[in-house]
Order: sequence, then structure tokens, then C-alpha cells
Amino acid sequence: MAENKKTRIAFIGSECYPFIKTGGLGDVMYALPRALTREGCEVRVILPYYRCIPDKFKNQTLYRGSFMMDLSRDGRTFYVGIMEMVMDGVIYDFIDNREFFDWGNPYTGLWEDIPKYCFFSKASLAVLNYLEWIPEIVHCHDWQAALVPVYLRTHFADTPVGRACSVLTIHNLRFQGICSIDHLKHWTGLPDGLFDYPLFKVSESDANMFKAGLAFADRITTVSSTYAQEIQTPAYGEWLDAHLRYHSYRLSGIVNGIDTDLWNPETDTLLAEPYSAETFLEKKIANKRALQQKLNLEPDDHKMVLGLISRLTDQKGLDLVNAIFPQLLDGNTQVVILGTGDPRYEASFRQFEADNKGVVCSYISYNETLAHLIYAGADALLVPSLFEPCGLTQLIAMRYGTVPIVRETGGLKDTVQPYRAEENSGNGFTFTEYRADGLLDAINDAKTLYFTDRWHWDEMVRRNMQKDVSWSKSALQYLDLYRGALAQARAEAEERAKEAARKAAEAAEAAREAAERAAMTADHANRSV
Ligand code: ADP
Ligand code: GLC
Repeated sequence: MAENKKTRIAFIGSECYPFIKTGGLGDVMYALPRALTREGCEVRVILPYYRCIPDKFKNQTLYRGSFMMDLSRDGRTFYVGIMEMVMDGVIYDFIDNREFFDWGNPYTGLWEDIPKYCFFSKASLAVLNYLEWIPEIVHCHDWQAALVPVYLRTHFADTPVGRACSVLTIHNLRFQGICSIDHLKHWTGLPDGLFDYPLFKVSESDANMFKAGLAFADRITTVSSTYAQEIQTPAYGEWLDAHLRYHSYRLSGIVNGIDTDLWNPETDTLLAEPYSAETFLEKKIANKRALQQKLNLEPDDHKMVLGLISRLTDQKGLDLVNAIFPQLLDGNTQVVILGTGDPRYEASFRQFEADNKGVVCSYISYNETLAHLIYAGADALLVPSLFEPCGLTQLIAMRYGTVPIVRETGGLKDTVQPYRAEENSGNGFTFTEYRADGLLDAINDAKTLYFTDRWHWDEMVRRNMQKDVSWSKSALQYLDLYRGALAQARAEAEERAKEAARKAAEAAEAAREAAERAAMTADHANRSV
């Protein structure tokens, strides 16, 4: 793979495990750069130097330099510091600026986050120039980095980094960075002309950062093929479906993987007992016991434990869970919920726990350690999402031999094949319509198999634990995509060079003809004298 060795890729995004993570974006920003590094690429990850990054990581960073950068229309300049560390062959450059990154966890509210990520996007490109590390590809993630492709082709077009191709990945189209045109004009410092349709503008008064990024990026990707199709429809397009249909020739879906070293039940030190596809029959149970004990659930090997690990937002299908909760509890089932988010879900899940002590645990918090034990100790994991660009919890669950129960949408549809009794095939239980009775049927099917046909259940567990949910295939797909973008950019540059040469030749020819004509006229004039 000699060609890969030369490929330099800058990842630009707002979160990255283990420094800062609120959801799957953090996992991808950690795992994909590592997978690309294994393929021989040189990868740098650019992140904000948030105050909330734990000190144990901050203490490992080194100061690499700083400069002042203009940004807003009032002519102010802003400090850009670069703090750097290297972990497993990946270089992490954190952008330091206390005015923007001293608040939030890491997000604050859209009003403050918009200036924060305008600054971050512009500073990321300025940092690459400053470091004189010029990537072939800048791979930007979600709305927070969506201005990178815009700045790349405007402010930085004639600088070294301007030679790079940009890829913009949609992890979640729900969040777009929408605000008043005036607010964004002020903070981006970009020229007025860009704020007309069809770039930033979404209404007479509002502008949309994601929309502009999608228009400028050389390639648009999202995290599953199904979601790539879905977002081109009004039902899932979050008002950008027409824009995405217009740009669809540059849009494709590449399904996420998980880091199978980080998520490995054979070596996971956070488990009560590690296990593998060969040993889960004897050993997985120790994790169920530990989970029941830790969460004050009745100790009982024979109960079926249903887990749910999620941001608590309406995206995750929690209204369906609320609607069927009473029917879930049949004397043989326990439920464990780990999540934090929307207060109305936090309250309803707390209430379920209060009404069903020893049977339900609602752990309203963000807790990586407990997440590992739930993936290992539960029998099945619920992911009944309203929409799901990819979803990682079902992938981790499969790797840990915990059977996913999912709605067939986005990446859930692409990664979980429904169980087929007659063929003894599939990875989990699925339903299609966003309806509570669909979820209940799927859970009841899972219970029936679990309680009446454990042999086939265990076959599915083994199948899932052996399924390839790693990044290896998808990392190669990204490499192909990068190469395609670079080849196109090269072809276009050659075309432009040919065109320029043709025009220069034409101009030279015209000049020669003019000179000839002038000479003839002079000759004629001389002869007539
Ligand atoms: P999303 O990015 O939409 O939140 P994903 O399924 O892609 O959904 O990724 C969620 C990631 O966040 C997974 O790694 C999951 O384990 C983790 N996670 C979600 N909620 C919690 C929580 N409360 N505590 C620990 N980890 C969580
Ligand atoms: C988003 C999506 C999730 C996806 C994750 C990583 O947060 O909601 O489905 O897995 O990003 O791509």
C-alpha cells in the first residue's frame, strides 16, 4: 500500500474519545483515524482544547506555537494556541482559546456555540498552514466543522492548505447550526455574496452552517447507506432533503465500525469476567450477576435483562419505550437504562424505577464504566430509534453477545439482520413502523426465543460475537473515496491548466497575427510613400 503512505488526512471535529465524548461522533473520531493509520495514512486530529477535557490528558500535551487570527467583522483578532500530543501514531492538535473553549460540556447553547465553531473551523485550517503540515484531505465532521470546506475554498483558497480536498461527514442531520444571517455574517467574516440562496440562506432571516458546508465539500458522506437515502426524503431530510438531492452525486454512505480493541469482551478490564465467542456460555453470566448486584436488582440468573444505553432524546425512540413500559415487566424481565438528556425522559425512567424497585434500574448519568458492564451483563439491548444515522450501541452489543432489538432505520437496518427461525440466521429482532406495538412484538419475539429455545438464542449470540463490526472494511471505503476526490481534483486541475495553456496559445497567436498585420500595414505605408 505504498500509495496510502503518502496520504495525509486532517480530521476536524468537535469531540473525540477519550478526551471528550457525548455520543458516537466521539467514538468515530477516535477509531477511524486509528484504522486509517493502520492502513499507512498519516492522520492528524484537530480538536478544541476544551476546559472540560480531563487534566490527565491536558498534562500530556505540549505547546506547539500560537498566533493571532482575524475572524469577526469588527476586526478583532483572536488568540490561536496549539497544544499537541501523540497517541498510538495519531497526532492530536488541540486549539486553545479560553474565550471560546472555557465553557460548556463541551456544548453550551447555539448562540454561544456558533461563534465557537466559526472560530474552530477557521483556526483549524490556519493551524495546518502554521504547522506547515498540508493534508491531501480535510475530513470534517458534522455542523461544528461544516465551515471548514467553505473557508477552504474562500479565505484559504490561495494558501497551501487550499490545495486539499474536503470531505464532510453527516453524523446527525438534526443539528445544523442555524442562526440569524447577521449573527453568522458577523462571526464568519465571510463576504455578503455567500449569504444568498443556495449557500447559507434558509429563509429571509436565517443562515445554516451545515447547508453551506454541504454545498462546498468535495465529497459528502454519511454513516450508513440507508441514512444516505433517507436524508434525501422529506421525512428524514430535516428540511435539507432538496439540497441533498441536488448534491446527491457527491453523497454516499459508509457504515461505521467500532474499535474492536477498545470494545473487546476478551480483554475488557471493566468486566466482572472476560469472555469470548468460545467461552460466553460459561462466563458471560458472571457479568449479569455483577450488574444485578451493582444496580440493586434482584440477583437471579434466569431473569432476562434488557439494557438501553443512550442519549435521552426523542431521536432514540424513547416515547415507544415509555408507551410499553408496563407490558415489559412480566415477572421474568429486568430493565437497565443508562442515559442522560431530556428531563422528561429522565423523569419518566426515574419513575419506572421507583415503581419497580429491584426490577428496573434507571441510571441517569453518563458513565463509560457502567456502559461496558451493561453491554456484557444484559441479554438484549433496545435501540428503537425514530431515526439513526448509524448507531454504535447495537454494534457494541453484538460484539459483547448481547442481542439487539432495533427499529429498521438508518444504520440499524444496515447492521442488524432480523432473526429467521427457519434459516437459523440473523443478528437480532427488528420492527419497521415507528409504533409502540411493533417494538413490543419485537421484544416479545426475543423473549420467546430466549425463554423457550435457548439453543437458537445462543447460536445467534455466537454469530454476533463473530460478526465483523470493526472499521477495517469501512476504512478502506473511506480511502477509496479520498482517492476518488483527489483524482477528480487532479483531473480538474489538469483541465484548468490545459484551458489556460490553450488560452495563452490563442493569445500568443492573436498577438502574432496583430504584429503581422501591423508589419504589413507599415510595409504598405512605406511603399506608398
Ligand atoms: P449517538 O451518537 O446518537 O449518541 P451512537 O449509538 O452512535 O449514538 O453512540 C453512542 C455512544 O455513546 C456509544 O459509545 C454509547 O456506549 C455511548 N453512550 C451513550 N450514552 C451513554 C451513557 N449515558 N453513558 C456511557 N456511554 C454512553
Ligand atoms: C450520531 C448518530 C449516530 C451515529 C454517530 C456516529 O450521533 O446519532 O447514529 O452512530 O453519530 O456516527
